[in-house]
Amino acid sequence: MAVFWDTFSGGFMTDSSSLTDEQFAFLDLKPDLEVVLREVHQGLSLAAKAISPKFFYDERGSELFDAITELPEYYVTRTEMALFDAHMAEISACLEENICVIEYGSGSTKKIRRLLEVLQPQAYVPVDISGDYLLSNAEVLLSDFPALKIFPVCADITQSFDLPSQVEALRPLGFYPGSSIGNFEPTDAVEFLRRVHVTLGTGGYFLVGVDAKKDVSILEAAYDDAAGVTAQFNLNTLVHLNERLGADFDLDNFEHFSRYNSELGCIQMFLKSTVPQQVNLAGKVISFAEGELLHTENSFKYTKQEFITLAQSAQFECLKSWQDSKQWFSLFLLRAC
Ligand code: AVI
Repeated sequence: MAVFWDTFSGGFMTDSSSLTDEQFAFLDLKPDLEVVLREVHQGLSLAAKAISPKFFYDERGSELFDAITELPEYYVTRTEMALFDAHMAEISACLEENICVIEYGSGSTKKIRRLLEVLQPQAYVPVDISGDYLLSNAEVLLSDFPALKIFPVCADITQSFDLPSQVEALRPLGFYPGSSIGNFEPTDAVEFLRRVHVTLGTGGYFLVGVDAKKDVSILEAAYDDAAGVTAQFNLNTLVHLNERLGADFDLDNFEHFSRYNSELGCIQMFLKSTVPQQVNLAGKVISFAEGELLHTENSFKYTKQEFITLAQSAQFECLKSWQDSKQWFSLFLLRAC
């Protein structure tokens, strides 16, 4: 089954039938290219050059991330999935009926399937910056969950956005798995949670997966795997910038570098310039010295109490949390108060 826009009827169609606005609607709030370009230029003009980790995720980047989740060193996804398997029924029992699931940065459909099967929500709102990815995933879910109403929103989750009007009467459950919240600086994570609070409204639930602090050797291996998939994922940012913004980064002149910063409590990923070089990006020339670092990602790790305190600063109470036996990963069910 394919979902496509039919100009004749002015609505979304599947191969066999038309979809009403009550069943399926696509909301496109994608930021303009100029806004994106300004943000990238700003980051590359800093004394310590930096770019948001959201630039990992073009189509190839999403595929590479999926490959990372299968790596022996990357325990994150496996551990979280096992927590879902063990506790989803209990999570479901904590919620009301009439739930609408809002997935922040919906990637592959693997995790959401578990949630949809057990929770059986009235509606599902996947929110992601990649419109194509959203539509193709929605297509698969529509055929596997025919009773589900799906309202994909193409938006940058780091900015405010409104929910589709069709789900106004339902109780929202925000879903943010995979420890993606760790990719914000802690102060930005609080700001993000405040925006989530506004979107969900008082009484809204938020189910979030958070990676824990642990032995440095385990953390460092997870972000610098032996097969070099994380290195490819990191370098793909430059391909993305070349293709999307017309830059001319030469991938042969950069290498992946990551380390655990124990003062900050986060893994940091960089692209290291291996030669002195200049890169053109939409009319601007950016110079890199040999050895200079372009910061591409932080991945903060939190103890259970650290994360509960962070959530409380954004007016969320923790209803319940679950950890695996090694205490490597936590799931938190929060409620906006
Ligand atoms: C998406 N995010 C939670 C991943 C992480 O672990 O911080 C991204 C990632 N970066 C390198 N490997 C995985």
